[in-house]
Order: sequence, then C-alpha cells, then structure tokens
Amino acid sequence: MTLFEAQLGQPTSRAKVSNADYRGLYQQLYDESEIATVSAAVFLQQQLERVAAVDCELPQDPQQLSSWMQQRCARVAREYADYLKQRQAGAARRYFLNKAHALYFIQRVAPTKRVDGAWLYGLLDYWQDHRFDELLNTYLEELGEGDAGQNHVVIYSKLLKDHDCDSVAGLRDEHYLQGALQLALGRCGAAFVPEVIGYNLGYEQLPLHLLISAYELSELGIDPYYFTLHVTIDNASSGHAHKAVQSLMQLLPMGRGRDEFYRRVNLGYRLNDLGQGTTAVINSFDLHCEVVAMLERKRAFGQHMHSNYCKFEGKTVNQWLSHPGQVEGFLEALEHKGWINRNQDPRESRFWQLIEGTGPAMFGVFSGYEKQLLHDWIAGDWRSPQREVPIRRGGVIKPLPKQQAMMVDPDILALDDALRGLPDAEQLVRLIPWMAARRHWRPVGLYATRRFIQLRARLR
Ligand SMILES: [Fe+2]
Ligand SMILES: [Fe+2]
Repeated sequence: MTLFEAQLGQPTSRAKVSNADYRGLYQQLYDESEIATVSAAVFLQQQLERVAAVDCELPQDPQQLSSWMQQRCARVAREYADYLKQRQAGAARRYFLNKAHALYFIQRVAPTKRVDGAWLYGLLDYWQDHRFDELLNTYLEELGEGDAGQNHVVIYSKLLKDHDCDSVAGLRDEHYLQGALQLALGRCGAAFVPEVIGYNLGYEQLPLHLLISAYELSELGIDPYYFTLHVTIDNASSGHAHKAVQSLMQLLPMGRGRDEFYRRVNLGYRLNDLGQGTTAVINSFDLHCEVVAMLERKRAFGQHMHSNYCKFEGKTVNQWLSHPGQVEGFLEALEHKGWINRNQDPRESRFWQLIEGTGPAMFGVFSGYEKQLLHDWIAGDWRSPQREVPIRRGGVIKPLPKQQAMMVDPDILALDDALRGLPDAEQLVRLIPWMAARRHWRPVGLYATRRFIQLRARLR
C-alpha cells in the first residue's frame, strides 16, 4: 500500500480514472459530486506517479527556496526587459499573430482560470492553525475577499463574456487537466497537504509568459487585467509567491518526516508541468484549421437554413453543408466567386458583409470569437490603418458600478437563516462549503467569503 493509500484508508486500485476523461472528472468535482472524492484521489495519485520521473528544479535544501525564488524572478525580469527592447526595436509580437489567436488562447485556458485558487480550498478547514494563515490569505485573495470586482474567477468570466468567447466548443480533454488537478487538490486537501503546498509554490511563481501575454493582449485591444493582476498579486517580495515559500517553511516538520514532506512538496510542484502549458496552447493555433473546424461545427445547424437561390460551383449552400469534410471546398468556391477576397479589408468581402454590418443576413449566427476567426482569416496579411488602442489599466481597479436595484438573493436569505443563533465558530465552519469553486463567485459565495473573513478575525 502506498503512502497515499494509507492516508485515504482504502486501496486505490479498485477505482480507475481514465486518462482520457479529465473533462468528466473536472465537471464532477466542480458540481460537488460526492463520488468524485475517491476518483479525485486516484487521479491525483496517477498524476503524481506520472511526474515522479520528471526533474525538479526546486533546490534540494528548502532553506534555499527564498533565494532560489528571487533569482528566478530576476531572470524573468531580465528576459522581459529583453523582450520589450526587441519590441521597441520593431520586432513582431512573440505570441499572438492576431486577435483571433489571442481569443483562442483565452478560451483554451478558461477551464483552469475558471477555478483559479481551487487547489487551496481544502485548507480552509485549518483556519485555526496559524501555520496555514498565508495559504488561507492567498485563497481569500483569489476570491477577492468577497468583492466581485476583485474575485479572480469573476474577472476571468467577464473577460470571456466581453469578447463573446465563453463557449467550450473546440476545447479538448487535455484543456481540462490542470483545472481537474486544481479541483482534485482542493477536494482532497487533507490527504495531500504537502502536494498542495508544492503545487501552490509552482503555480504562484511569476512566469515570463504572463508578462508577455499581458503586454500583447493589451496591444490587441483585450483588457489584460486578469493577467496584470497576477503580476502584482503573485509577486515574490510580498505576494502569493512569497506567501507560498513562507507557509512551506512554517509547515515543514522540524525532525523526522521533514525529508519525506519535502519530497512530496517537490512532487506537487511538478504537477504544474502536466497538460498543455501556456506556450504550447499558444503554439497550437492554426488559423486556417480553426476556421475550418469552427465552420464544420456550425454545419449541422446551418445545413437546412439557406435558400437554394445561390449556387457555388454548381452546389447550393445547403448542399455544401450537407456532408462533413466539404468546408474547405466551400470556402474555395466562395473565393472563386469573389464572395471572399483574402488579404484585403474584410469589409470588402460580400461574405463578411452578411456577417457584420448594418442588419446583416447572418446576424447572430457567429459568436464574437467565431467572427474574429473569420475576420482575421479573410484579412490575412492585410493590416488595418486604424491601430487598436492598447488597454492599460496600470493596476488601478475600476470599481463595479453600484447596482441600484439588487435582487434579494434567496440563497443569501437561506444562508442567513441557517446561521442565525449559532456560535461564531460553528457559523464559520458552515460558511466553508459556500466558498468552493462552484459557489464563491456568486452573490451568496461572495457574501459567505466576507462573513468568513469577519468571523475568522473575531475568533483569533
Ligand atoms: Fe488568481
Ligand atoms: Fe495567486
């Protein structure tokens, strides 16, 4: 029996998590399915076994962690300064070819970002143990301390909505792996404390790609606030990265068990390497393939919706859409007939005019992201003389407008009722489930978070 099996009190070989169903596990954990707890533990163990052979970059001696982190940070700062110099000297964007590419990235990392912080959820149970304070504070900051405008999940969801790219169409199972890991660590926190600490240590380090993506998103007219927020909040001198090292040092056993604990921290750290990383997601973008795949997905809905008035190379639109695998031919036919003029202003293409403009015939057929794909595919190497105005917020938080008429939230009323008359400590414990991934960003979850913070302060 392995260490993990011993902690969980049951052999894990009976339950198997298929490597090909990260999405299913993600959904089960997100939906708070009870049966998912065993699957989550098995899944974690499988993933820890996968990373056991990977080299770990952490220093052998935990005492070296602080200086290791500072050096790493200094290197990232130097590399970013080089990047900026290159850009100022006229180099092209390093990551995103166009806006569609950037939205593709935002959409594919969404399953992870929508559960931001979830790996720390299980540690809320240790609210009385001061050694966990920094980890709890990190979690509460991920939740915006109950302020919607600061809640990382709310901020990311808004970003997806603002660009109409919150659909999961086109996402692959692998895109759910990191999110599933985060939810699983949150669910099984008690049995995997060293691994949670290690994962947190890795996740909260400032990577170069965060700085570059924020810069390039802003250039493309996409609000980079979610990303710039993490540059400031995760900083190594006082932010989440610093807190991550601090809490590890406080929780590391002083005697027997120290090496084993740190070994498990190392394994947890390496879980960050699983799945498609940021740069791999960015590099996997192929505009032509994305356009074809998107139209193929749409085909099923559009195949009976067109009139038979127009023919392209002898076939009506409905005939082109009637079978899979014809999209590329259809696009070529549209080009031959002059309905699409590639490498020119898309507004000059008749096909684009059906999608965008005043009262277009295909109004509402394509989402914002899908339109951007088509736009950038048609535009090709044509560049608009109008430059996007870069969005830079400089870390200043725009407060959400005060809502004049707030609906009385039935969940908040019910929670209030359930807590009435209970001693403070019991109230606090009852608030914890409302701070899980599926709930904390809703009004009731934000309310529970604020109340948790008040009670915790009172009980210390
Ligand atoms: Fe975050
Ligand atoms: Fe963070």
